[in-house]
Amino acid sequence: MKLSICKTSLKEVGEEMLAYPVFEGAKIPGELSGFFQGLREKQFSGKEGEALSATTSGKAGFSRVLLVGMGNPGEMNPDCIRRLAGTAVRAGISTKSQGIAIFLPRFENISADDAAQAASEGAVLASYKFTRFKTKKEDLYGLPKAVVVSDADESALMRGMVLAGAQNYARELEETPANLATPSSIAKEAKKLAKEHGFSCRVFGPDELKKMKMEAFLGVAKGSEEPPQMVVLEYGEGKGKPFYAIVGKGVTFDSGGLSLKPSKGMHEMKYDKSGAIVVMGVFRAAAQLRLPVRLLGVMPLTENLPSGTAQKPGDIVTACNGKTIEVLNTDAEGRLILADAMAYAGQKKPDCMLTIATLTGAVIVALGRECAGVLTEDDALAETLAGAGDRTWERVWRLPLWKEYSELMKSDFADLKNVSETGEAGTITAAAFLKEFAGDSRWAHLDIAGVDMVARPHPYLEKGASGIGVRLLCETLKSLSGQK
Ligand code: BES
Ligand code: ZN
Ligand code: ZN
Repeated sequence: MKLSICKTSLKEVGEEMLAYPVFEGAKIPGELSGFFQGLREKQFSGKEGEALSATTSGKAGFSRVLLVGMGNPGEMNPDCIRRLAGTAVRAGISTKSQGIAIFLPRFENISADDAAQAASEGAVLASYKFTRFKTKKEDLYGLPKAVVVSDADESALMRGMVLAGAQNYARELEETPANLATPSSIAKEAKKLAKEHGFSCRVFGPDELKKMKMEAFLGVAKGSEEPPQMVVLEYGEGKGKPFYAIVGKGVTFDSGGLSLKPSKGMHEMKYDKSGAIVVMGVFRAAAQLRLPVRLLGVMPLTENLPSGTAQKPGDIVTACNGKTIEVLNTDAEGRLILADAMAYAGQKKPDCMLTIATLTGAVIVALGRECAGVLTEDDALAETLAGAGDRTWERVWRLPLWKEYSELMKSDFADLKNVSETGEAGTITAAAFLKEFAGDSRWAHLDIAGVDMVARPHPYLEKGASGIGVRLLCETLKSLSGQK
């Protein structure tokens, strides 16, 4: 899809379809109202999610007009614009349109640039579909062209394209099944990405991981034939810039290991690599946007499978920082691989470390699928993440991380155990475990298990892998570096 911006008046729009936003209770402008005579009162009130289309019978430069309900103007935020653009693009696709125009009026409280960026994100995200394995390509229709009608600067549109493009890149990799997206193939893709975008990428294989004494990580990989890989990405090396580390869980398939998961829904555990893939998406966008920061990305990649060589409940392993861990449940593997990856990242002394992982089913119980869980002892960092989430609409909600929870992760036989006895507060105890490996960096953890995939109809995200976290972390880095 070719996306462009155009400063023009309604009358001059020349695309096949025009999408026009209408708030609840607002009037349709004179130029358009004629096309809806008699139709509007009964069928369209401007409520969010509503859409009504009419033909212009050759009386305008565009042949169809689509009114898109924007809801209550008092509840307006940039995501309403993403949804508007998403609705428009989807309507364009379903009608096999040659091109659409999305009209952006002046919104109260949202700058023209922010509105254009949001429209660009919504349009690019809605145009994506995972089609790699559809063999009848003729059934797939790609919208050739979308034009955002706005007087915003073109750079705002480009920013949206880069961010949504990076999110779509992450969606494609997240969706790729575990037979293809193995630790080695993802490491290879990371090298390719790094080369294309001019940042550095190092890959550590099993022998190097052994030398680095990453027993917690290697223990998880023991049950699999696929060699584990740790990818380390670096961007913006050099002095003087704020330095952030992002560590993402990359379990390319989580069967649970010997603590085997039930088979219902197990296929969704191909998404258990989403944290690591988000790291790749963030690097892609950061490099394209030339973010003035220094970044370290760490992606521990492995499968978690049961076999004759698999790690067993009760095993005790030593992480690379010397802490010992009793593995009581092999399905709590994310925290084990992150333990070593975080200890590694911490050695580089970042100003701030962020971990992102599909870590616990418990976060879905606590928060559902509307937001990610955020856990940190750092109030300012929690606020920065919350603000970034509100702007990108990849919202986060904080859960406590008081020291009392850490008590639950102490083992009788080792320093730590990987699950608590009771299973209560599963998201918090998982983060309390991770806290032991954050060293003395400022640190926050995002549990994205509830938002890594879209299961219900969504205005701009197709069902499946969501790529959620890419825009959130880019926005977080932007505000952190602004604050210094
Ligand atoms: N990958 C899962 C978490 C998960 C569950 C992600 C559902 C997405 C949907 C993680 O490795 C896991 O299995 N966690 C266990 C922890 C438990 C054994 C303490 C869980 O959540 O059940
Ligand atoms: Zn697991
Ligand atoms: Zn897992």
